[in-house]
Amino acid sequence: MKTQVAIIGAGPAGLMLGHLLHNAGIDTIIVEIKSRQYIEERVRAGVLEQGTVNVMVDSGVGERLLREGLEHEYIDIRFNKKPHRLNVKELSRGRSVWVYAQHEIVKDLVAARLEYDEPLYFEARDVSIHGIDTDKPSIRVVHEDRQQIVDCDYIAGCDGFHGISRRVIPDSVLRIYDRQYPFAWLGVLAEAPPASQEIIYAYHERGFALQSMRGPDISRLYVQCPVADTVEDWPDDRFWTELHARLETEDGWQQQEGPIFQKGITGMRSFVCEPMQYGRLLLAGDAAHIVPPTGAKGLNMAIGDIQTMTRALRAYFEGGSKDYIHSYSDTSLKRVWQMQRFASMLCYNLHRFPEHNTFEHKMQIAELNNMTHSKEAMRALAQNYTGVPVELFYDLD
Ligand code: APR
Ligand code: PHB
Repeated sequence: MKTQVAIIGAGPAGLMLGHLLHNAGIDTIIVEIKSRQYIEERVRAGVLEQGTVNVMVDSGVGERLLREGLEHEYIDIRFNKKPHRLNVKELSRGRSVWVYAQHEIVKDLVAARLEYDEPLYFEARDVSIHGIDTDKPSIRVVHEDRQQIVDCDYIAGCDGFHGISRRVIPDSVLRIYDRQYPFAWLGVLAEAPPASQEIIYAYHERGFALQSMRGPDISRLYVQCPVADTVEDWPDDRFWTELHARLETEDGWQQQEGPIFQKGITGMRSFVCEPMQYGRLLLAGDAAHIVPPTGAKGLNMAIGDIQTMTRALRAYFEGGSKDYIHSYSDTSLKRVWQMQRFASMLCYNLHRFPEHNTFEHKMQIAELNNMTHSKEAMRALAQNYTGVPVELFYDLD
């Protein structure tokens, strides 16, 4: 088989790349090891920056997002039992965030692809990558018990953190920057209307807590927990007790309880691999970087990579220029490190670190006070939270 771009992985990164390249008249094949049902039901994050919403809408897959997504103008940062509502839309001069679950984006992109009938192989096996340092790269894949060799011009590694793509870059070239955190998030979905229409980030002596939502009747809730905990350590009663203690304010605000129908633990790490391009292989999304979820950036970073990668591949296929392919890694990494900086700053200031003493606690409160009272700090927070447009990173040094 032959295609122009072979895409490994049908997460948001791979599917969005396939979609944007389809719109540009560039052929792709997407191979995915999991089933369609698995990727369409996998519970992940759900906060979209304005730029991610714009990409969905402008590329023709935003109709359901505009209908069912919840636009948020405010976020609430809580500490010392007080809420601090920030109007991020006003502070960022008109940009908001949208709550729309990641697997809904996956469903919209899969539906679009199946409609225009371009190859998307689910339950692919034995995927391997060949010849990235030649002009004739290829992937091999077993699909429906048939071995296929796909010759292509470029390979897009969109196969997430545990994928194979990053690992084919030679050790002598690949640099890894990694930090793991001494805590995790226990996340639940509950049949309970969120008590507040805003996403709430809470710093508390007992640890971080977050209230988000998936619709008017479903709450998405998280509490910081020790990294070695399992869901069995967290019966529903214990979860609600912790959540109430960490979120409640002195004016008597309370999150409503309701049946919990999904529970999971997410570890936390910051991770970047450099470079994001080697020969005929370009990496995007979790394959190249991971952020702690505190700033809700993971999915948005992946979509930012894909915008930059689409620009590079279009310049190549439409005009024969490799300039943007060669600058793809540097250009993307500037944005990636800025977003790492933001996610890591929020993560640091909102969590209890086991090794911290009372001095660090006081510093965190001072930082949170600054973040919610200084106009400059509030603007910077809002701009980063709602997302700096990808194009602004194209000219960064
Ligand atoms: N061959 C084919 N597909 C693979 C392989 C492989 N060897 N290994 C992994 N995959 C698939 C996974 O099954 C998954 O569906 O690649 C996909 C990667 O998708 P995601 O993990 O969702 O990663 P990405 O598309 O980069 O999405 C951005 O940022 O913070 C996160 O939650 C956010 O998952 C989101 C991610
Ligand atoms: C979510 O709704 O799942 C969510 C919200 C905000 C975050 C992370 C996750 O920072």
